[in-house]
Amino acid sequence: MTQTSPTGERSAWPPLREELRGLEPYGAPQLDVPVQLNTNENPYGPSPECIADIATAVAHAASTLNRYPDREFTELRTELAAYLSRDLSGPGRITPEMVWAANGSNEVMLQLLQAFGGPGRTALSFAPTYSMYPEYARDTHTRWVQGRREEDFSLDLDAARALIEAERPGVVLLPSPNNPTGTALPPEAVGVLCEAAASYEPQGLVVVDEAYGEFRRAGTPSALELLGTHRNLVVSRTMSKAFALAGARLGYLAADPEVLDAVRLVRLPYHLSAVTQAVALAALRHAPELLGKVDDLRAERDACVAWLREQGLTVAESDANFVLFGTFADRHAVWQGLLERGVLVRETGPQGWLRVSIGTPEEMASFRSALTEVIAAAPDPHDPHTLEAP
Ligand SMILES: Cc1ncc(COP(=O)(O)O)c(C=O)c1O
Repeated sequence: MTQTSPTGERSAWPPLREELRGLEPYGAPQLDVPVQLNTNENPYGPSPECIADIATAVAHAASTLNRYPDREFTELRTELAAYLSRDLSGPGRITPEMVWAANGSNEVMLQLLQAFGGPGRTALSFAPTYSMYPEYARDTHTRWVQGRREEDFSLDLDAARALIEAERPGVVLLPSPNNPTGTALPPEAVGVLCEAAASYEPQGLVVVDEAYGEFRRAGTPSALELLGTHRNLVVSRTMSKAFALAGARLGYLAADPEVLDAVRLVRLPYHLSAVTQAVALAALRHAPELLGKVDDLRAERDACVAWLREQGLTVAESDANFVLFGTFADRHAVWQGLLERGVLVRETGPQGWLRVSIGTPEEMASFRSALTEVIAAAPDPHDPHTLEAP
């Protein structure tokens, strides 16, 4: 937008940073439709007991709201450490000194970029991947480098290691499972890439973003297992997905305590409100219930993959609570057709692909019947790959 001054000169308004001009804010459409399968949330809400416990905890926090909250959220870090330690297969332990939290793992990772990225430094990931990563880099004036994934969305480990050694990034962002493809990293990848990022000075941090970690298939270890082996490894988690707490905004990481000291330099004072801390603590007390549907969601995911393949579609292997499928000549037409039938999926990922989050059995049935109708309405119903805009 431009504004004319009293002297008739035209200037840009608002006086935004040059590189932000004309950009759209990130965010999936929030539309009020019956079946919302577009932001990878857990479709199951909390039980009445859990709601009551959260309400009691919030009421208690409310009585202290004249004071700033515990800046170090010590109790929450202790409980998160205990929760993470239960995810380890060996005798290792995650201690509260290794755990940090913020308002969603988005904020956790932005803080990491603020501390370890910045002017003259590089952040690196492998596309297609989570579309917020380049925004963290942009917002912290960090150079952004993007390698490519293979055709099946896996990582070519040798090429990935070579790219890290050549670009010497301060931060490598590695989601596992990856969004939007659902691809988990093979067990050997984390160690190899941590070593690559430790081979230059100053070393790079390797952030394994396990936002969807709890949905991984049996036999896929968490990167948490390697925290004792690689000092430059950070594992990021969130309560937004498997934990069914997206509305509370609580993400966290586990890392070497000295990495946390660096993050403390850039965090805003009292960034985690007393209410957020109380809600997260109450939710952690109900962890078995909130996580209780993860196995059902995994089974629903595998059934969804099988069904999509039966329809002749191409489907990416998924270790997450969503599935990337396609490919459509006009994916927007398919997205729109589903929306018109009350089903919201996400138009994201490489051209021609769509992503569906795994919902309840009823929601998935609606998705299947809507997609069947959309494909049948295509100009050549026998070849959905050629589905064109109406
Ligand atoms: C790979 C990945 N990481 C991180 C996030 C951020 O989640 P939150 O900020 O809710 O913790 C998301 C959200 O969709 C994601 O897909």
